Amino acid sequence: MPKHIKIFDTTLRDGEQSPGCSMNIEEKIEMAKMLERLNVDIIEAGFAISSPGDFASVEAIAKVVQKPTVASLCRAVEKDIDASWDALRCAKHPRLHIVIATSPIHLKYKLGKSPNEVLAQAVRAVKYAKAKAKNVEVEFSAEDASRSDWDFLVKIFSAVIDAGAKVVNVPDTNGYAMPLEFGRLIAYLKKNIRNLGQAEISVHNHNDLGLAVATSLAAIENGATQCEATINGIGERAGNCSLEELVMALKVRQDYYGKDKRTQINTKFIYPASRLLSSITGVQVQPNKAIVGANAFAHESGIHQDGVLKHRETYEIIRPADIGRADSKLVLGKHSGRHALSVKLKELGYTDLDPNGINNVYAKFKVLADKKKEITEWDLEALVSDGLKQVQAASYSLETLRIETGNKTQPTAELSVKYQDKTLRSTQSGNGPVDAIFKAIDDIIQRGALGIHLLDYVVQAVTEGTDALGRVTVRIKKNQKTYTGNGANTDVLVASAEAYLNAVNKYLLRSE
Ligand code: KIV
Ligand code: ZN
Repeated sequence: MPKHIKIFDTTLRDGEQSPGCSMNIEEKIEMAKMLERLNVDIIEAGFAISSPGDFASVEAIAKVVQKPTVASLCRAVEKDIDASWDALRCAKHPRLHIVIATSPIHLKYKLGKSPNEVLAQAVRAVKYAKAKAKNVEVEFSAEDASRSDWDFLVKIFSAVIDAGAKVVNVPDTNGYAMPLEFGRLIAYLKKNIRNLGQAEISVHNHNDLGLAVATSLAAIENGATQCEATINGIGERAGNCSLEELVMALKVRQDYYGKDKRTQINTKFIYPASRLLSSITGVQVQPNKAIVGANAFAHESGIHQDGVLKHRETYEIIRPADIGRADSKLVLGKHSGRHALSVKLKELGYTDLDPNGINNVYAKFKVLADKKKEITEWDLEALVSDGLKQVQAASYSLETLRIETGNKTQPTAELSVKYQDKTLRSTQSGNGPVDAIFKAIDDIIQRGALGIHLLDYVVQAVTEGTDALGRVTVRIKKNQKTYTGNGANTDVLVASAEAYLNAVNKYLLRSE
């Protein structure tokens, strides 16, 4: 029996399936490194057969990640298992994650198969996967388990364990289960699967009724020892079980759940991981989201503020620092050097920036420090994620921007952009200054010919005050694929131009 609850992170697979959350290979690697710092037990890196991009991401993550197990999803068919294995073969700890549906509704309408046929296919697939290598672990998922016949689940799980599966996963694929009911299902499986001594029970819960964390906790209480979750709860439709909420519930209420239900998550990286994911995808969490939302630790009412000042625990059950969430305080200033910056970046979780990466952030930090009196940790995070992207995807870069605007003037943008040692210029007018900037960029990159469409434009203040750093996210689309660009600057118009160019650069990088 494991002595802790294992966290199987599926941000890069199920999470990536949520609208607007697709990531390119560099972003997935960056995220996987953060998941390793978070100390998740398993990283599901993708669904290798689904696209060449997914295959390459699984392979790259398998090479980069050292401690966690790396998994790739496959349907219960040989070609999927082959593709996953090809991508995973250099992983230190590879896991093939095989899925087939088990509910009557899926069998009848999706698979057109009988329960016996599904059972035989599942066993064949697990044996085939297990034969790939000595060190390969096999996880078997019964899709739509919560709407499946309980005795059929007992039968199929017992059979795949005999065939070599080390983990049997019970997904509430449609977020349909009620917590107590799901807990009872896990208890039933635990009691009736005869060979469970050779395997463990995992759960994978969706949030369609807002219950994914509750159903996961009920499962853990009843004997599940692995839980599948995502950062910020992203995932298909209403998302998956939120990793940060689950982990913190088990930590804060250890008195209730007991020591053996602890996770090994390094909670100090929860907030950096949440922020990194938002900055990569451009999808921000709602302000009142538990644990990582902007208001999760904000006390607005006078009675609460008074209570917290008298004794923090009157209204705070988690210390912000425990999840790596420092107050937005002054940390560095104009006179701080590169060393102080790199120490601070390490504290924030950016432990693997190479000297080039640090130099890049330092250059941006100096420019910002000249413009902004107080540099906060949040500003630094914005600079790092923005800086990294510039390094990785430098193709078009902003040289100069001049804007003319006003209530009686037609807004005009004069823009010059560097591209392969050339400087390209354009001057355009628009309905507003951002419209003018985007038209000038469209002209320079010849958007019409590229066939890309603008999907979203979001501006956010990273910190408070009129001198706050503005973070802009731009999403563009081509052929059903979206590309997210970020820019951070005290001038939101400059940030807008940078974000748009960043998105275009990503598109160019991926379409090469
Ligand atoms: O929701 C689901 O059933 C899944 C499986 C692949 C585990 O994502
Ligand atoms: Zn799922």
